[in-house]
Amino acid sequence: MMDAKNPKQSKLKTSHVQRLQDMRVASKQGGGKKRIQRQHDKGKLTARERLDVLLDPNSFHEIDAFVTHRSSAFGLEDQKVLGDGVVTGSGTINGRPVYVYSQDFTVFGGSLSETHAEKICKIMDLALKNGHPVIGLNDSGGARIQEGVSSLGGYAEVFWRNSMASGVIPQISAIMGPCAGGAVYSPALTDFIYMVQDSSYMFVTGPNVVKTVTHEEVSSEELGGATTHTQKSGVAHFATPNDAVCLSEIRRLMDYLPSNCEEKPPRISSSEPDAQKAAALDTVVPENPNKPYDIKEVIEGLVDAESFYEVQPDYAENMVTGFARLDGASIGIVANQPLAMAGVLCIDSSLKAARFVRFCDAFNIPLLVLVDVPGFLPGTDQEWGGIIKHGAKLLYALCEATVPKCTVITRKAYGGAYDVMNSKHIRADYNVAWPTAEIAVMGTKGAVEIIFRQEIADSDDPVAKQAQLEQQYAQEFAHPYKAAARGFIDDVVLPSETRDRLIHAFKMSENKVDTVPRKKHDNLPL
Ligand code: HXC
Repeated sequence: MMDAKNPKQSKLKTSHVQRLQDMRVASKQGGGKKRIQRQHDKGKLTARERLDVLLDPNSFHEIDAFVTHRSSAFGLEDQKVLGDGVVTGSGTINGRPVYVYSQDFTVFGGSLSETHAEKICKIMDLALKNGHPVIGLNDSGGARIQEGVSSLGGYAEVFWRNSMASGVIPQISAIMGPCAGGAVYSPALTDFIYMVQDSSYMFVTGPNVVKTVTHEEVSSEELGGATTHTQKSGVAHFATPNDAVCLSEIRRLMDYLPSNCEEKPPRISSSEPDAQKAAALDTVVPENPNKPYDIKEVIEGLVDAESFYEVQPDYAENMVTGFARLDGASIGIVANQPLAMAGVLCIDSSLKAARFVRFCDAFNIPLLVLVDVPGFLPGTDQEWGGIIKHGAKLLYALCEATVPKCTVITRKAYGGAYDVMNSKHIRADYNVAWPTAEIAVMGTKGAVEIIFRQEIADSDDPVAKQAQLEQQYAQEFAHPYKAAARGFIDDVVLPSETRDRLIHAFKMSENKVDTVPRKKHDNLPL
């Protein structure tokens, strides 16, 4: 039929248009209505519905919708589904471009064939070349069993690209169904992993293999569900109650990140912290140094209103990590949490903070470190578990970070932990302490018991003697002014002054240029 307004269109035969339309409709059907219904019955969205929630409305541009697998084994020749079990393309999140892939469980259980892998690899190559983040929505039975080693090769191609893209573009994984075997290693190589409660799991070998090998009886959920990985193993960063929340959380995260390592994170207008929370800063640290308080109250009093986005909130709670905004600028926060194990440094908290610091440094996100740390956790568990090498990771991460780095010591900064937690000596840019800070080799009681052991034992009244010596030691060391006298901190500031000081300090460091010596790559103590 002629279109008078658009004569060019008339050259296309109706049959051409019809064929394309039919192909498009077919490609959107995935594994068919029954399987889609099964997906919904499990409380899960389909691959395409997920992209609708993740991306800005009408922003998705699909590619490779007509790709089919090339296998003929086990009757696969007659089972070709357009798209081959993964929807790939690009779109925007709050106006900023991202590349995405979304596995379709309704097609061969979302399993990864050679061509399915090629589609993911194409997306990753484009993301790397064009400098945009890549977000993978994983819902897959793993390697497509019928394809054997071709599928394993496909996985390895994905893993290689994950490794090459690491530190160049942000890579985010959502686990929204099964993720087993070697398939877990693609998400593990990415920067952040989101999981959905009760419908996703990750493990190297499933419950049946576990039972055969170790005789342990364990459910999939217990072995590798969202709770396990966000609380016990630390493999995943966020547990979310359902698909929709998971996807909207990813949208939130993206606002703090630049698109690639050459860019700075976006500045977003935001407002002053809640007045009550800001005012509470002056009284948040208790007089008794052994009394805990919530460092998140300090964070919320300092940063822009409702801007704190905690990362790994349920893992190693003695260390708080997360993104926030300070006068609209994105920052990464690392903070000891006195509420959990007195904020001590241990294996898990060191690993959690080290990985976060390295992410921020790779993507030009300035770091704010809040310090209230009594030291490293003693004990055989920790020593035999390698606290020395794991603590060294955090030390290393902060030493090598060249982004603007600021430190606020709110209370304790004892021993090696003082050095580790972004001290001036490891090239932090602006270090301040609150008047309540105690910067010393160790706490008052422990120090007195060691250096005055004999004197206390010889005294007629050891209890009174110890108290007197403790007072003397506290006067001498339990304050920030010795460190200030050496220039190890730049200033002592009131809690209520801290936000303005930090805003100024980060502004001054906006054009910071710092480098590390030329090398092939570093040798982080793994
Ligand atoms: C081909 C698969 C598949 C796979 C599932 N399907 N997994 N097809 N290869 N790996 C198909 C099923 O045949 C079924 O097809 C559909 O997907 C849905 O599967 P169900 O079993 O009906 O679903 P459900 O009961 O929800 O169980 C999901 C599941 C289970 C737990 C994922 O399917 C399963 O255990 N699959 C095998 C997992 C596995 O062992 N994969 C290999 C891991 S090793 P129909 O036509 O009925 O809809 C690995 C190595 C990677 O991945 C190495 C990388 C280095």
